[in-house]
Amino acid sequence: MDKLTREAHEHGKILESMVFFENFLKTITSDDAENYTVRLHQFSDEYIVQHFKFEEEELFPAILQKGSPEERAFIKELQDDHKQILASLAEFKKIISLYDPQPPTKEQVKEIINSSEAVISQILIHARKEDKRLFPALKKYKL
Ligand SMILES: [Fe+2]
Ligand SMILES: [Fe+2]
Repeated sequence: MDKLTREAHEHGKILESMVFFENFLKTITSDDAENYTVRLHQFSDEYIVQHFKFEEEELFPAILQKGSPEERAFIKELQDDHKQILASLAEFKKIISLYDPQPPTKEQVKEIINSSEAVISQILIHARKEDKRLFPALKKYKL
């Protein structure tokens, strides 16, 4: 699988999961909050972290090297997004760890919802930005 195909495939998976989590949040209760948070936690460790690593190690360096000033500035913006998203995920995990091992109360469920909605929308905005502007650059530099 070439890098562009891998990138497109992973974005598809990420969008699918984000839609799943968004829908799940609409009906979440204290009973299934734990199930939800475990899944989001797993998703972030196994998927987001690995995906960002792939982009930073295998995609961004080539564009930083060959790209125009605008393209290089755009990659820096994406790197900043990654840092912010990872910080939000860490914050989210901290909130979750406070409830463990008791199931969250109604108030706490609200807190979980707010915190994960913030992370989800950050990830979605970032992925759309990459779809629109990173993918053409990957094609241009034959990655
Ligand atoms: Fe990214
Ligand atoms: Fe991405």
